[in-house]
Parts: sequence; C-alpha cells; structure tokens
Amino acid sequence: MSSSAQPSVRTYQNYINGQWVPSGSGKTFPVYDPSTEEIIAQVAASESIDVERAVKAARAAFDSGPWAKITAQDRGRILFKLVDKVRQNASMLAEIECRNTGKPIVEAEYDIADVATCFEYYGGLANKVMGNVMPVPANALSFTMREPVGVAGQIIPWNYPLMMAAWKLAPAIAAGCACILKPAEQTPLTALEFANWFEEAGLPPGAVNIINGYGETCGAALVAHPGVDKIAFTGSAVVGKIIVKSAADTLKRVTLELGGKSPNIFFADADWEAAVDGALFGVFINQGEVCSAGSRILVEKKIYSKFVEAMTEKAKRIKLGPPLERETKMGPLVSKEQYDRVSSYLEVGRKEAKVAIGGGRPKQFGKGFYVEPTIFYDVDNSARISREEIFGPVASVIPFEDEGAAIRIANDTPYGLAGAVWTRDIYKAFRVVKSLRAGIIWVNHMQPTYVEAPWGGYKQSGFGRELGPWGLEEYLETKQVYVNLDETPIGWY
Ligand code: NAI
Ligand code: MG
Repeated sequence: MSSSAQPSVRTYQNYINGQWVPSGSGKTFPVYDPSTEEIIAQVAASESIDVERAVKAARAAFDSGPWAKITAQDRGRILFKLVDKVRQNASMLAEIECRNTGKPIVEAEYDIADVATCFEYYGGLANKVMGNVMPVPANALSFTMREPVGVAGQIIPWNYPLMMAAWKLAPAIAAGCACILKPAEQTPLTALEFANWFEEAGLPPGAVNIINGYGETCGAALVAHPGVDKIAFTGSAVVGKIIVKSAADTLKRVTLELGGKSPNIFFADADWEAAVDGALFGVFINQGEVCSAGSRILVEKKIYSKFVEAMTEKAKRIKLGPPLERETKMGPLVSKEQYDRVSSYLEVGRKEAKVAIGGGRPKQFGKGFYVEPTIFYDVDNSARISREEIFGPVASVIPFEDEGAAIRIANDTPYGLAGAVWTRDIYKAFRVVKSLRAGIIWVNHMQPTYVEAPWGGYKQSGFGRELGPWGLEEYLETKQVYVNLDETPIGWY
C-alpha cells in the first residue's frame, strides 16, 4: 500500500430481521475518529424504504413471531446472555467507543461496565412485572395486566453511544417490545458490534433491529411511521420538539431526554477541595458532552473569587490528549459539527463574560476536534452562555448573594434535567433540594448515575424516565380487566 492510500475501512450494514442487509439505496456514510479526523468505517445510509423494512420485521416479531410468545423468564435470560457478551468483550467495545467518540479510554471502560450493569438490572426485572387486583364490589373481579407497548423506535445520541442503546434496549426487551434502534450517525459502531450477539443470545429475528442513517431522513421516517407505537428519544430539545409534532399524527407514545443547563451550586460552607473538584468534574467529564453537565456553576459571593481561582488552577492540570492514552482526561469533541458549534459559543462567551482559562483551540494538536477546557466567570444568568446548552467543556460561573438568590438563578432556565448543591448545612441542602425544579439532584456530588435510580427531566428537558422500574414502565401498557361474577342480567331494558 502506498503511503498516500487510505487504509481499507470496514462497512457496516443494517441489522434487520436477524440479518445484515445493505441500505435500499446501497448508499453508505462515513464514520470518523474525531482525534485524527480519519474515516474509520462506512455505514449503511438508511431512508424510508429501510425504515419500512425494519418496521415490517419488528411488527411481525411483535404481532405473530416467536417473540410474541416468549416468556418473561426467557427474556431475562437473553438479557443475561447479552451481559456476558458485553463483559467478555469489554475491552474491544471500550476501544471502539473511545476511537469513535473521542472520549478518554478510561471513561469508555466505565461506560461499557455500566452497559453490562444495565442489561443485568433489566434481566432481573423481566419476570417481576406484575399487575394489580383492585378492590371492587363482591360481584366482580377487577385486575390489571401489564403488556408491552409494541414496536419501539429508539433514537439515541453520540455522547454515550452503547450506554444510551442499553438504557433503551434493555427495558424494552424486558417488557417484550420489539425494537428499532437508530444510533447517532456519528457513533453507530458499538451498537452494531453488539448486534453480532443477538442471535446467539436468543433474540428471534425482528425482535431488535438496528438501522443507521441521518436524523432528518432515517430518524424522521421512523418517528412518522404508523407501524411504530412508541418513540424513545435522547438528544437536542430542537429535535425533541420536531419529534413530538410528528408523533402527534399517529399519537405515538413519546419519551424524551433533552439535556439542559444544569446548575451546580456552591455555598461558602462547602468542603473546599471536594467542591472545587466537583465543579470541574460536573462540567468537564466526557469533554462536557453530557446532558446533565453542571454547566452553570453558581458560587456564593463570599468565596466567589477564591473559588474561580482555585478552579482555574486545577483546570490547568486537565490532560488533553489522544483518547486511547490512559493518562488522557479530555479528548476531542465528537465531530466537526460539534467543534464548530462549541467554538461559536466560545466566541459568544468572550463577549458576554470574562475568561478565566481556555476559550479556544489548544495549540498542541495539528488534527482533531479538540477544544480547551474553558471557564467563563462574571457571567450573568441572562447571557446566552448561561441559557443555551453548549455541550462542550465550557463552564459559566455565576456569583450569588444568598440561598434565595441561588434558587432563583438555578431555576431561571427553560431546562430542568439536573442540579447539584454543595454545603455542610443539612437544613440548607434539603431546602435547596426541595426548591429546585429538576429531575435529578445531587448533594455534595455531581454526575454519579445508578441504573436503579430514575433519570429524566422537568420542564423543557423532556418527559418520561429511564432506568430503574420507571424505565420499564415507559415500555408497558396497562390493560384493565373486569370480570362479572354475577349471572343475573343487567336488567336495564
Ligand atoms: P440531535 O438531537 O440532532 O441528534 C440526536 C439523535 O436524533 C441522532 O440519532 C440524530 O440522528 C437524531 N435526529 C436528528 N434529527 C432528527 C429528526 N428530525 N427526526 C428524528 N431523529 C432525528 O443532536 P446533535 O445535532 O447531534 O447535537 C445538537 C445538540 O443537541 C448538542 O449540541 C447538544 O446540545 C444536544 N444533545 C443533547 C444530548 C442529550 O444527551 N440530551 C445528546 C446529544 C446532543
Ligand atoms: Mg442535529
């Protein structure tokens, strides 16, 4: 091979009805390594014809295939087999995730461990779904049955690719739904590798399908399709609104996780070292490409200047580097598109506030979509960098006078995914917990996420909850059954 030739890249197809199939058009699209900007794979580019095929397969599986008759125990066993596959192949999956997203390998390893834990949790839950018997009068019996919602379209983002697939597939399989997963076009590779194990794990054809493509074509066709009963979406608020409007035509069930602009609140009495660490971790983990990023850092005036200084000093230590190197703490952003979006916010921020550190592209990289960890301070909560989700390593530090002001600023956002409060005062901590309008609140920490606990937002951060029994609920319908125990006619006419 001459030095100028491109190394050959693998082509991934769609996984429909238990088979790998090219897109109807035969077209593919490129997938990149954001640290080298090189193409690492080609993937089938799907459009409505491919969505049609996937829906046909999923409908057949759900309505009349072996999937329709499978026991809850067996669905649990399938999930446990997938757990084994993920654990046995964890380093391969972590490496692909790392190369495809640009996230540090150590973070990718945590993600893959969480993927296995998620399948394990729902494997255990599969045969614990039960209905109720209601206390109606003695001449009747009234009970509920829990049934799968049907064919679920699952549209996921690029920041935690296989983990987002797990959060959606695992509860849906546990519930007995048939799935059509559409990974983000930037990062489909781990989900496609994962599909290699479906058959061996016992998933019959059509039970879980994966189609690849862009949102505006493939994703939109999935949302509009009358054969799909539910859409579960994680991504931008802009697309969430498009989905709700489109889903209205067929009155699909919709659940949305749309990110936010989460406040991370620091009172003067907080444990100093832990607080400084927590402020940085809250916003810089995964390059800040996190739906629950603590991107608004609210700091009590008494400690404000010192806190900004301490954050800045510590941020200097964040090691940017190639994602596969184990010392790397921050890799490149996922794509050119995201790099351009974040860079444009850096320009806005330089006008709206003061720069404590960062604010541009790190000089040491010739290639790759790297952005410096950036701290803006003296930011007003009305600034664009305080209100709009940036989804990059960009913090806005906002001073506050007292508890009341902290709560007011924290809630002054259209979003409501998450929030955190740092203080040693238990009275204050829980007053703030009660006052914040958001779905996830951390006290003296930010970001830990457990599969056992619900995940989702208030306000424009979406609706519905993932994880825990709440995540399973979203894939279930409730059928109410009335049984008459009285043989005498109604006697009305
Ligand atoms: P996006 O919302 O456009 O993409 C997320 C998923 O939705 C992808 O699979 C995409 O193909 C699909 N999609 C896009 N348009 C669609 C449509 N019209 N119909 C159906 N599906 C569609 O997110 P994007 O453009 O990658 O990032 C933009 C911003 O979104 C980010 O800067 C960030 O603020 C936010 N975001 C939030 C995430 C979260 O975790 N809540 C994750 C990713 C992005
Ligand atoms: Mg988009």
